[in-house]
Amino acid sequence: MILILSGGAHKDSMNKKLAQHVEKICHQLNAPAEFIDISTYDLPLLDPSNKSAQTPPKNLLELREKFERANGFYISTPEYNGGITPLLSNLLNSVFNFVYFPKNTMAPIINKPALVGSASPSIYGALQACMTLKSQLSHMDAIICPHAVSLSQANDMFDNEGNLSNAEAEKRLMQGVNVLVKLSNMVF
Ligand SMILES: Cc1cc2nc3c(=O)[nH]c(=O)nc-3n(C[C@H](O)[C@H](O)[C@H](O)COP(=O)(O)O)c2cc1C
Repeated sequence: MILILSGGAHKDSMNKKLAQHVEKICHQLNAPAEFIDISTYDLPLLDPSNKSAQTPPKNLLELREKFERANGFYISTPEYNGGITPLLSNLLNSVFNFVYFPKNTMAPIINKPALVGSASPSIYGALQACMTLKSQLSHMDAIICPHAVSLSQANDMFDNEGNLSNAEAEKRLMQGVNVLVKLSNMVF
């Protein structure tokens, strides 16, 4: 199963649209995939010095189980001041930390393929956030897939069905998702 997330959560989030489009492509390729809206997990802001944080909340356990079950990831993030969003950052740091999960902390992501993406209304796109996310997931020992798509002027990029209206961007996204699906079928 490929787990699909967006660091943007609001109703009209472009990154959510991008992530949901990737879910559709995975299904077209007969690859099991699940998009989850990470804002619905309502995770508290991680504070490792808080002793009660040593008992993970139920929704965090559910989330970690999804990461454990997944054999690949697609994550799309908005760019906030050149970085990933606090929502996504808090999620990654909550699911992968030694306070909640002292044993096998990073196991649900190590050696699993991850394709990243980003979308921004700016003419410059959100490439910086895309690179930051790549770097972070690589640090966490995921296998980073090539062909990341960073959409600029993304408000004009989706048609009414949520498909990409730009053929170049769609082609590159397909390349990336194909690699993700192939790598996710490999066992290390
Ligand atoms: C705090 C903050 C910082 C932002 N910084 C950037 C930025 O550095 N680069 C950029 O392209 N857009 C930036 N934006 C605009 C976002 O790209 C825009 O809100 C976008 O719609 C977020 O993606 P979403 O629609 O998936 O939520 C910023 C927005 C916020 C709220």
